Amino acid sequence: MLCTDKNTNEDLICKNVTVSEDGVLCFAGQNTLELAKKYGTPLYLMDEDRVRENCRTYVDTLSLVFGEGGMALYASKALSFKRIYEIVREEGMGIDVVSSGEIATAVAAGFPMQKAFFHSNNKTDADINYAIERGVGYFVCDNSEELYAIDRIAREHGKRQSVLLRITPGIDPHTYEAVSTGKVDSKFGSAIETGQAKEITGTALSLKNLDLKGFHCHVGSQVFDSSVYLQTVEIMLGFIKDMHAAYGFVTEILDLGGGYGVRYVKEDPHIDIRENILSVGEKIKQTVRRLGIKMPKIAMEPGRSIVADAGMTLYTCGTVKRIPGYKNYVSVDGGMTDAPRYILYGAKYTLLPAGKMFECRDMTVSVVGRCCESGDIIQENVKMPESVTRGDIIATLTTGAYHYSMASNYNRIPRPPIVMLSGGDSYVAVKRESFDDMHRLDV
Ligand code: LLP
Repeated sequence: MLCTDKNTNEDLICKNVTVSEDGVLCFAGQNTLELAKKYGTPLYLMDEDRVRENCRTYVDTLSLVFGEGGMALYASKALSFKRIYEIVREEGMGIDVVSSGEIATAVAAGFPMQKAFFHSNNKTDADINYAIERGVGYFVCDNSEELYAIDRIAREHGKRQSVLLRITPGIDPHTYEAVSTGKVDSKFGSAIETGQAKEITGTALSLKNLDLKGFHCHVGSQVFDSSVYLQTVEIMLGFIKDMHAAYGFVTEILDLGGGYGVRYVKEDPHIDIRENILSVGEKIKQTVRRLGIKMPKIAMEPGRSIVADAGMTLYTCGTVKRIPGYKNYVSVDGGMTDAPRYILYGAKYTLLPAGKMFECRDMTVSVVGRCCESGDIIQENVKMPESVTRGDIIATLTTGAYHYSMASNYNRIPRPPIVMLSGGDSYVAVKRESFDDMHRLDV
């Protein structure tokens, strides 16, 4: 029995996901079965053209609204490897980095580090040294201990380091707890409400080797409620005015962080990023006028909304286990090692039988990995065809963000390669890990 096209198409949640006339799932216009055959599974695919399109939405809209004063930074924690830094550089973005490892990767890719913003709530002295030596443009300081350390190390280097301060605006972004960061009790930043944000501003201004450029905030991730950003703007610009009143400080940069949500399943809403930036821009302009402050440069730091829907993971189905009266399991050749977000956050995904897109999906299964751990689940309550069997290719959509970057080698399982798709061609950007790689560091 064939499913209607309508049923099939509802699950194709991004326009780069299509189905060929013979019922094969295609990604960026390419046949996923052929890609699986050519590169093996598990396999991360990245639609380079979609990454570029997502970058352009931010770059073009920010420049439309703020001209030279708009800055789009890619939050590279979402997906970090050399080629991605080249792509975002070509698209005119800066970057957000959170560790010496991300800095090292960006440097290896030849990224101009004066366009890098270095985050993290606990930069070690070694990190600070490493970042200063590599010419990182801006440090986003989380707390005053860190400010003193950066001031001291910048002095040792005979440098004045540009810094922003991470401020907690006290906003609940209505997302899941692990990624909610704007509330007062967050481990990140200094809160306005407790007076610590004002205090740290005074400290930054008093330190001779620091050049305070402005403020940063990030309220959370996978946020769909656009009013959150409007509230954030109101609070942050109010704070900027207060800091001018308190210290005569004129803010040059306001970085609003990242966080726009993406569609993982058809029930997720669609966010029009361009429209959102336009309305945030309008709100900023109005508020700046009302408060009578100088217009700062405005930075945004998207991660997920740049790479998530540009990614897809392909697996090969192994064991199909039916436990009558209980449950059905479909085991694949990946798992929590390459797809940790279900076990961490209960994140929902769309999984599809890549070669059987015209078959009805009326068997409910749990798609599980091959780790020695019963919690190794990629997704529960997935609909698959009854005919699903060993050797079938199964695809998970929207895996471009926080998959490869959060992957592990649990059970000494090698991480999959990343294959880029562009203009009808494909190429390897990250190789598949080998068994030698698994014990390369063992002595
Ligand atoms: N800027 C800062 C300071 C951040 O902490 C983050 C994300 C971003 C920007 C980018 O946010 P995005 O646009 O990607 O939402 N592992 C979790 C997500 C953690 C997000 C951490 N910070 C997940 O898989 O959902």
